[in-house]
Formats: sequence, structure tokens, C-alpha cells
Amino acid sequence: MRQKLYTADPGCAVLGYIAHMSCPRFIAHRGAGTCAPENTMAAFELGAALGHTAFECDVKLSADDVCVLLHDDTLERTTNGQGAAGAMRWADLRQLDAGTWLSPDFAGEPLASLADIARLCCPKGYFVNLEIKPSPGTDTHTAHLVANAAAALWAGQHTQLLLSSFSHVALQAARAAQPQLARAHLFKTLPPDWLDLAQDVACQGVVLHHSLVSPHTIAACHAQGLWCASYTVNDPEQAQRFIGWGLDHLITDAVKTFKNPT
Ligand code: G3P
Ligand code: MG
Repeated sequence: MRQKLYTADPGCAVLGYIAHMSCPRFIAHRGAGTCAPENTMAAFELGAALGHTAFECDVKLSADDVCVLLHDDTLERTTNGQGAAGAMRWADLRQLDAGTWLSPDFAGEPLASLADIARLCCPKGYFVNLEIKPSPGTDTHTAHLVANAAAALWAGQHTQLLLSSFSHVALQAARAAQPQLARAHLFKTLPPDWLDLAQDVACQGVVLHHSLVSPHTIAACHAQGLWCASYTVNDPEQAQRFIGWGLDHLITDAVKTFKNPT
């Protein structure tokens, strides 16, 4: 397995904490979220059965501040619930069916909490990229709680953890709460100051939409000591081209095509 080590928040070195991140090249998107219901335990279990050891997932808060895996702000697309996920308590979210929408084979699959995923991944040493996906208006609060929960759940295994977000505010809050955890800035489009934004929150790397990947963007990251990853890369020719240009990590839905060497 190709492994890389990156220093997390440089400021932490002064305090005596130096965290490193250990991540293989291919990261299964939303668990293995196209073969099984995204962001559920079933998705992680299927990805692991296919040989994956690194997973991305989306995390937001329930109304009672439980860290829950869910991509959308609302429940309709991936559960049998309705309305804003952030308005429901975990005890009620937990009762929803988050599997039937994809296939009757997954009927009754529940939503997963961050604690559920940690229980699955930590003993196996899987790498987990937690994308902080705040419900509208909750960026600081969500990032604060997700970072604190993740630091506790992955205690002693911080090298297996990466916090990422499209939200700069969320990354600021994650850094303030748990500076030693590795962070990455996600970008769908590139603002002129994208590298400054990543450096401002002491990221180790950036995660670019695949349309933004070029020899130039990759080199620009590396020149600043940042690694460069991309989402979601599903085409083998595109993946090969990106790897040839020096891309460090790929987040993929093509979990049956891309495998990390063992
Ligand atoms: O974290 C990479 C990727 O998941 C970002 O986009 O919308 O799939 O969460 P999205
Ligand atoms: Mg995501």
C-alpha cells in the first residue's frame, strides 16, 4: 500500500503535538456509496469486502447534536423521512429506512452515526475522511462538535483521520477545536486565493473537483507543501492521467475498478 506522511497543523509542533496522516491513493466515496446505500454501515462493509481500506463520508448534526452520516440537508433522497435532517433528534433519525431508496436488498438499513463508523473502522485501522457537511447556518457548531467527537473516537489513531469541508468557516472551527487533526480544503471551483484559503486553516492538502485537476493545479499545491486529491474520479483513463501528473489521492465511486495495492 502506498503511504504518505504529512505534518498537520504546523503550529502544533510548538505545543509538542505533531499528527501525521496516513492515507492510501484510492478513497471510497460515501463508503462504497453507489454499490450500497451511501454513508451507511452497509456501504462501508461492502467497500471493505471489496478490499478498500479508506473511506470518505459526509457528517452533519441531528437536532440533539449527534454526529450523523448524511450527504443532503434533507431526508427525502436517501431515506423514507421528510424535511430537514438537522431538525430531527437522533432517536427518530435512527428509525428511518436509509436503504430501500437504493434497492430492496437494503431495506431497513439505518442511518449511521459517527460513533457507529468509528466502531467499524478503528479496530481495522481503516482511513476515514470525514467531510464536514453542515446543515445551513451551522458551520461553526457542526465543525466544533464533529472535530471533538472524531478526536475522541479515534483517540490514539489520529493518523487514520482527515477532516475536510467546502466551508472555510467549518475548517476554522475544526482547527480551533482540534488543531492536531489533519484538514483538507474542498473546492468545486477555484477562487483566486484558493491556496491562501487552504493555508489560512493550516490544511495538509486540498481536494479538487475533477474538472479542476491539471498539472498546474497539482504543481501549485506541491509547491506550497500541500498534497492534492480529487473527487470523484471514476474513469480509469482519467485516473491514470491524473496520477501521471502527480495527483496524490483520488476519491472514487468506482470501488470495483480502483483498488489500492496490498
Ligand atoms: O469529499 C469529496 C466529495 O464527497 C465532495 O462532494 O457532494 O460528494 O460530498 P460531495
Ligand atoms: Mg462528500
